[in-house]
Amino acid sequence: MLTRAQWSLLASVTAAAIWLVFLRAAPTPASSNGPSPAPGKHAFRQRLIAVDIDNAQKVLRMASIVDDKARWIGGTDILVQTGDIVDRGAHAYDVYKMMQRLRGEAHAAGGQVVSILGNHEVMNAIGDWRYVTQSDIKRFGSTDVRQRDLSVEGWLGQEWIANYSSTALVAISPYANSPTYSFTHGSLRPSFPHLLPYPDMINQLGRSLLSRALTPPLAAPYPPNPYSGLPKGSSDAELELYASGDRIGGEALQR
Ligand SMILES: *[C@@H]1O[C@H](CO)[C@@H](O)[C@H](O)[C@H]1NC(C)=O
Repeated sequence: MLTRAQWSLLASVTAAAIWLVFLRAAPTPASSNGPSPAPGKHAFRQRLIAVDIDNAQKVLRMASIVDDKARWIGGTDILVQTGDIVDRGAHAYDVYKMMQRLRGEAHAAGGQVVSILGNHEVMNAIGDWRYVTQSDIKRFGSTDVRQRDLSVEGWLGQEWIANYSSTALVAISPYANSPTYSFTHGSLRPSFPHLLPYPDMINQLGRSLLSRALTPPLAAPYPPNPYSGLPKGSSDAELELYASGDRIGGEALQR
């Protein structure tokens, strides 16, 4: 079982929050029991930044994560994006591309980009395109191209499956026994029956659901086609993960 402190960590992170944790501990004195930082890395200066992207580049610039050309200048910082990049206007295509590029740049600098699936990623995957704008479709090219890009045969579908997860545990320092934070789009309900082992169980459910949804033939987009719901063959656990919450196991997934 998780300890009380772990539960409160799980519960404490909400998707809409943009928050910064500044951890600028002075280098530990020689007498400290702590392990030494990895060679070539700064002693211990990591800011943890969680962003639900609306005006992505502006926010990232404000946080000194990217420069004027949207290139990673965050060094060893960790950027956590908690989902719903899509369905917020015309820029999903470009923001996904930027995140993909930043992930590589961050990695090269000793930092990290952590990407979480929101309910709107899953909605788009299962053909629920209620909030997709014409300008978004046009940016991809056409409905057909967009659907292909989202599928397991397309760049975005492959990126979601490889580099996005339903939930993530993030260590906030390179030290052994570092505190970890749990990130999820929305929050986690302790009574959700498929929490453990955490985070693997949830991510396994999320990934199998996503892979099934993105394997052709994909559901015809609603509207104008009828809403087809989760793909055939989805398990009860997957159903519960999706249908009951954008808090995992909560009731806000439709937000
Ligand atoms: C996952 O992210 C890495 C780093 O940005 C990128 O090189 C890779 O292409 C991504 N994987 C997929 C399948 O898109």
